[in-house]
Amino acid sequence: MRVIIEKDYEAMSKKAALLVASQVRLKEDSVLGLATGSTPIRMYNELIEMYEKDEIDFSEVKTFNLDEYCNLPSENPQSYHYYMNENFFNHVNIPEENINLLDGMTDNLKKESIEYDMKIKRAGGIDLQVLGIGPNGHIGFNEPAEKLNVKTHQVDLAQETIEANSRFFESKEDVPKKAITMGIATILKSNRILLLANGKNKAKAIKETVSGNVTTKVPSSLLQTHPEVTIIVDEEAAELI
Ligand code: F6R
Repeated sequence: MRVIIEKDYEAMSKKAALLVASQVRLKEDSVLGLATGSTPIRMYNELIEMYEKDEIDFSEVKTFNLDEYCNLPSENPQSYHYYMNENFFNHVNIPEENINLLDGMTDNLKKESIEYDMKIKRAGGIDLQVLGIGPNGHIGFNEPAEKLNVKTHQVDLAQETIEANSRFFESKEDVPKKAITMGIATILKSNRILLLANGKNKAKAIKETVSGNVTTKVPSSLLQTHPEVTIIVDEEAAELI
């Protein structure tokens, strides 16, 4: 694992955007795995700025998002569909047909999951997967557990995740209890992985990711088994490493 420590959130985001941009410049038809949440927002802003300055072209890029809440329509501002459109897709030239998001509204989650993994395979696999991390070490919505589901699947969100994500909703009760997520093997099959974290509340998870035991109880620790992982953190998230 390569760990890059940047001074603050802004520097972390700039470095992450440069890494994504270099991937797209090297391979114009790159397949990108994308994350939502607070962490990558600034990275998306940086990529949009590069696009506006004609420094990057996304016209051949394909994307696959990591996860989506169940039973939240795409028009809901808290859905990850809405988030991606607002924070990235509406501002760059990725063709709509190249954008892949999980449908949390489907009445056949099993079919949706199987088809998503197949679509990733047909696209040639993910070249670069961007990840955030939960304070409990979740990646995507793969929550700490005795056993992890390897493929794309439906999950019950951990109480800790519901609490952490309640900041985006009016109340804790409004946070969906279920989500659909790429599985751990789907993530680990990516050629390269870029994990971002900022803030003190991620410090413990980052320490466990980098040097803790490899265990399903800290899903991000499984990244230690992948040969091409870059972790970019700010000084606060790096506090314990
Ligand atoms: C989001 C995702 C989650 C988040 C994680 C951190 O697509 O997969 O694993 O990356 O919950 O969220 P933030 O960035 O809001 O702290």
